[in-house]
Amino acid sequence: METEKIHNENCLITMGKMPENYVDFVITSPPYDEIRNYHGYNFEFEEIAKELFRVVKTGGVVVWVVADATINGSETGTSFKQALFFKEIGFRLHDTMIYYKNNPMPQTGNRYHQHFEYMFVFSKGCPKTFNPITEPTKYQGLANMKNRGQNGSLDYEKVERTTEKKVGNVFFYSVGGGISTKDKIAYSHPAIFPEKLVADQIKTWTNEKDLVYDPFMGSGTTAKIAHLLNRKWIGSEISKEYVQIAAERLRKHTANNLFTEI
Ligand SMILES: C[S@@+](CC[C@H](N)C(=O)[O-])C[C@H]1O[C@@H](n2cnc3c(N)ncnc32)[C@H](O)[C@@H]1O
Repeated sequence: METEKIHNENCLITMGKMPENYVDFVITSPPYDEIRNYHGYNFEFEEIAKELFRVVKTGGVVVWVVADATINGSETGTSFKQALFFKEIGFRLHDTMIYYKNNPMPQTGNRYHQHFEYMFVFSKGCPKTFNPITEPTKYQGLANMKNRGQNGSLDYEKVERTTEKKVGNVFFYSVGGGISTKDKIAYSHPAIFPEKLVADQIKTWTNEKDLVYDPFMGSGTTAKIAHLLNRKWIGSEISKEYVQIAAERLRKHTANNLFTEI
């Protein structure tokens, strides 16, 4: 199948053309709870989840970035229902990560400001690639604590003397105009990913030349970052207008016209 292409169609059609065990990694933010009026909105969640399980390689990972709308005074819980459905059809819920927005839109009413979305990490079997992001350790050589000993002492799993440790599973990002991306055109789409989020997840779960798929490509963030990180990519986007926005955005970042529009 041709890569480096956004297919202007329902992602079910794109995945229908893919063989089994084809894609190394999926990162996406689906339309949720009709919270925004995307052009051509059409979302058959259960069919899409099953197709993702079919096309993802054994050891491949899906990062599903989602939050809940509040309808009639209650959060919908759709995100949890979706996570449990992914488990029912065979994925592991490998990790429930948090996308924390440092500067969310302030909200009125009797709730705290909505600061986060979920980043559910589903894997088909054990993830085949894990390149963790690290940060400096304070106490050298004590990076991985195992458990607390019977006398209350801290029992450390001895690891090689190290100055780095894995970061936590809450990832912090500043968002909004000029911050999520420098590409002005991307803001013609109402719900773009911060580029850094996509880069962090792609680097963690893939290696160079791996194939990345985004079934809800929107303004093309996943395509741009996958390209810049030397990964192959494919996308689907149902709205022609958004595909055109993504095309214009990507042309600036792909030297040899690697991007094929439709
Ligand atoms: C949350 S947005 C994705 C934004 C994207 N992450 C970005 O950084 O620009 C979801 C997108 O899914 C598209 N969409 C909705 N249903 C679809 C379907 N069945 N197949 C493909 N795209 C779909 C919408 O048009 C919308 O652009």
